[in-house]
Amino acid sequence: MPGHDAETERIRLIYDRRAATAPPARKDAGLHWIGSRAAGQTLEIGIGRGRTLPFYPPEVHLTGLELSGVAVAAAARRAAELGLEATLVQGDAASLPFPDEHFDTVVFSYALCTIPDDRAAVAEAVRVLRPDGCLLLIEHVRSPNLILRALERLLEPLTVRRMGDHLLREPLDHVLAEGLEIEELERHWFGVVERLAARKAAPYGAGEDWKVAAGAVSGMP
Ligand SMILES: C[S@@+](CC[C@H](N)C(=O)[O-])C[C@H]1O[C@@H](n2cnc3c(N)ncnc32)[C@H](O)[C@@H]1O
Repeated sequence: MPGHDAETERIRLIYDRRAATAPPARKDAGLHWIGSRAAGQTLEIGIGRGRTLPFYPPEVHLTGLELSGVAVAAAARRAAELGLEATLVQGDAASLPFPDEHFDTVVFSYALCTIPDDRAAVAEAVRVLRPDGCLLLIEHVRSPNLILRALERLLEPLTVRRMGDHLLREPLDHVLAEGLEIEELERHWFGVVERLAARKAAPYGAGEDWKVAAGAVSGMP
């Protein structure tokens, strides 16, 4: 795709190839966790071949964005097999083709480990999230266990070269830097897998309407 830096183009080619040849990805309990929390207009960034599709409830209006055109086509086939209506588009997480404050939920499922500029991707996710909207992510991250972390450090050059897969990332840092409020934070598999739900602040005073309606604020300074 034009306009991409060299690393993003390298990742696109890797995932074009993987989408055409790799066996179906394994099931993951975290996908239920994501599906049960997604609501309203939902964007999944780096949706791949659509592994998460069956886990979203029918009332969710899903948009999936993915760098690899081959993966987008596979996800579209998967959606059709499942009888789901989803909008699937090819694009780059670092510059999303959506307006500000458009989605109620934005999801990353094992994508921030691969997206070359993970910080820009989180900033973009927050930009397109509505105030009071929810960011959900399930990612493999740097382990707090020193032995595992040493292993991650050893393997990372290989996984980055082969799959663009970073093993030592900490997406929580980017989510906090964007000012989101953490609602849920869990670590699994010796701290290697993180599940995170975070909320974008509503504009100041937006939550006060009910008090005005109930007369609760009358007479208050
Ligand atoms: C490890 S796969 C995960 C796919 C899927 N979310 C899942 O859980 O099975 C990572 C995905 O992120 C996509 N990706 C990598 N960089 C991206 C970018 N800059 N923009 C959008 N998607 C990207 C890859 O093409 C790949 O499909």
